[in-house]
Amino acid sequence: MGEYANVLLEVDSDGIGTVVINRPKALNALNAATVYELDKLFDELATNSDVKVVIITGSGEKSFVAGADIVEMKDMTAIEGRQWGQLAQRVFSKIEDLPKPVIAAVNGYALGGGCELAMACDIRIASEKAKFGQPEVSLGIPPGFGGTQRLARLVGKGRAKELLFTGDMIDAAEAYRIGLANQVVTPEELMDKAKAMAHKIISRATVAVQVCKSAINRGLDVDLNSGIAYEAEVFGLCFATQDQKEGMAAFIEKRKANFIGK
Ligand code: CAA
Repeated sequence: MGEYANVLLEVDSDGIGTVVINRPKALNALNAATVYELDKLFDELATNSDVKVVIITGSGEKSFVAGADIVEMKDMTAIEGRQWGQLAQRVFSKIEDLPKPVIAAVNGYALGGGCELAMACDIRIASEKAKFGQPEVSLGIPPGFGGTQRLARLVGKGRAKELLFTGDMIDAAEAYRIGLANQVVTPEELMDKAKAMAHKIISRATVAVQVCKSAINRGLDVDLNSGIAYEAEVFGLCFATQDQKEGMAAFIEKRKANFIGK
């Protein structure tokens, strides 16, 4: 894997790749260098067969990612602002479309671009210390890394508008209540819970999990009939895998399935 200055990657022997956003001095704010590194890192993660599930978290106790780097954005022109948004949008879409599950372990502030990064992940597990928000309107901008779109899709139009218009921060319990966080756990158990979920997903049939992800992602962008037509295709496709034969045989023989990921 490549060398990175602002992100750390650890791959364990069980197939979990843990990505740590590592700019603790700026509460892990995303500058352009970090976004370029995520771009490259996720290309590598897509093709690295040692990695089955990815977990993203922030370094330190306090912050997941405190947003895009405000110091770097301060003097941008309109053209530069647009390019910056497009760059991060492209990278976040790459994370969203990674053909492997991605879990955000939200350990602290997930603000602006940090909340948007968490929303580009498939699942969000929040520490009780996590704080979510899209405070951009206090800086004179709207969210620019997908927040106007993904937040509304996750929590609905009304709640998304309230969060965006007020710029309010919400705690983990409220994020859970509105469906932004999947689970809330203590800070001490955050990584263990994220890894336990990753292990459980890894134990399932890989291709089946993969097509669940693509069917949900694609389906939410199209009309219901197109979505269910895609579902029929991937449902059929899975009957070509050895894991389907094994999974159903194991059920009938009343034993645990031994999946091989093919
Ligand atoms: N960009 C650059 N630096 C940041 C930063 C950011 N988004 N967030 C925090 N930092 C820096 C601070 O400037 C400070 O640096 P110095 O020590 O050099 O002064 C350091 O991180 C620690 O931060 P604070 O002293 O502010 O810590 P705090 O505990 O008092 O407050 C906080 C924590 C509430 C998260 C506060 O730092 C904060 O409000 N940060 C900005 C949050 C924000 O507005 N995010 C949205 C950015 S815009 C965006 O993301 C646009 C988009 O859609 C892509």
